[in-house]
Amino acid sequence: MRRSTAAATMVGALLLGATFVAIAATPEQTIADRRAGYKHMGQNFKAMKEALESGADVKPLAPKAAEIVTWAKEIPTMFPPGTEKGGGTHAKPAVWTDRAEFDKLAEKLLQNAEKLESVAATGDKAAFAAQFKATGAVCGECHKTYRYKLS
Ligand code: HEC
Repeated sequence: MRRSTAAATMVGALLLGATFVAIAATPEQTIADRRAGYKHMGQNFKAMKEALESGADVKPLAPKAAEIVTWAKEIPTMFPPGTEKGGGTHAKPAVWTDRAEFDKLAEKLLQNAEKLESVAATGDKAAFAAQFKATGAVCGECHKTYRYKLS
């Protein structure tokens, strides 16, 4: 009986997939994971900026934009209850008290990153520069309300 319950739990965990993992992780682990996700996005963004400034081909930036698309989809799942404090988080309480707007901004990032990916694939540098700027504005918009200054 105990065995089959455990098996059923395992199957359930597999079916629920990533969401279950995010919930089952300790708050510290979730905070570390989300900080790493944002940090990686910041590095991708910096690499794009440098490529733009040096006039390099923008086509190779498409996979980096695709990574931002993937991360933008995960953002709303990375702030479960219990992860408001600790782990060096810079998230403001507004993430939990004004969640609808936060999720909207994550969706806005997703849409902008999808555009960024497709524009990169065309190799059009001017169009990429414009879409890069538009995407960067969404970062700033969200940080203004939802993130404490990084120290
Ligand atoms: C929907 C809101 C939102 C958007 C959009 C957003 N961020 Fe953030 N960002 C946050 C929050 C909240 C944190 C703090 C996370 C924490 O410390 O737990 C953060 C943290 C970070 C960090 C610090 C990670 C660390 O080392 O702790 C970087 C770098 C960063 N974001 C870069 C970006 C870039 C670049 C973009 C745009 C491409 C972006 N963010 C878009 C909300 C957002």
